Amino acid sequence: MTLDIEWVRARLPGRQIVWREITGSTMTEAARLAAAGCRSLTAVVAEEQLAGQGRQGRIWHSERATGLYVSIVLRLPLTAREAPVLTLALGLAAAEAISRTTDLACDLRWPNDLLMAGKKCAGILIQVEEPAFIAGIGINVNQTAFPKELAETATSLRLITGLLQSRERLLVNLLTAVDSFTKMLIEGGKEPVLRMFARASSYACGKRVMVEEGGGVIQGTTEGLDPSGFLVVRKDDGARSTILAGGVRPAPQG
Ligand code: BTN
Repeated sequence: MTLDIEWVRARLPGRQIVWREITGSTMTEAARLAAAGCRSLTAVVAEEQLAGQGRQGRIWHSERATGLYVSIVLRLPLTAREAPVLTLALGLAAAEAISRTTDLACDLRWPNDLLMAGKKCAGILIQVEEPAFIAGIGINVNQTAFPKELAETATSLRLITGLLQSRERLLVNLLTAVDSFTKMLIEGGKEPVLRMFARASSYACGKRVMVEEGGGVIQGTTEGLDPSGFLVVRKDDGARSTILAGGVRPAPQG
């Protein structure tokens, strides 16, 4: 069923929402709108993406009329150095939207993955287009199957709940939650976001992880977030390492 964008617009009066039946990537569309001077919080939503972008150059599987594919232009008084904590705030926003829609909680895997039953149901991608940020959010909503290469690691809200989910309600909840979590970051500073993320994420502290970084793999136990929102890992040799961008995965108990 096609997403009823008018239902969404009626619930968010005044919100600029650009709708695309099909696009390469909503990130590219949002970056173009940002460069043309669009308002902050302008959202681009697509029914299907032909070149959905994931982190680290990966492709975001963007099956037609099943997932939520959204990019939001954010004009915030933050610098590019503060992008890591903005990523965490957006992860919290997506988790809140999912929980309001399904009544289920997600786990957050630093920095940008939302998990249900240990599998990924959503991801966040931040692109800096100074002076704006583009927040890309992809949520697997009503997929009933994934391509072979994703089947082990991906899930959808429908697969978890056994119910067809309203993408319209989820989108309203998502845009509302993005507004409130970015407001919380700007008005309250990084601290409350870091605290909330540490509470909501089983990965933030005391988790055995493997991290791919700089061509190598480190193994250790997480010890919380540093003041910038980076993940601190105590390696098995006792040294501490601050993870700036690596892919974090669970590791066997040491
Ligand atoms: C990740 O790798 O976990 C981040 C995935 C982000 C996907 C979303 S879908 C909407 C927006 N448009 C894109 O091309 N990517 C982001």
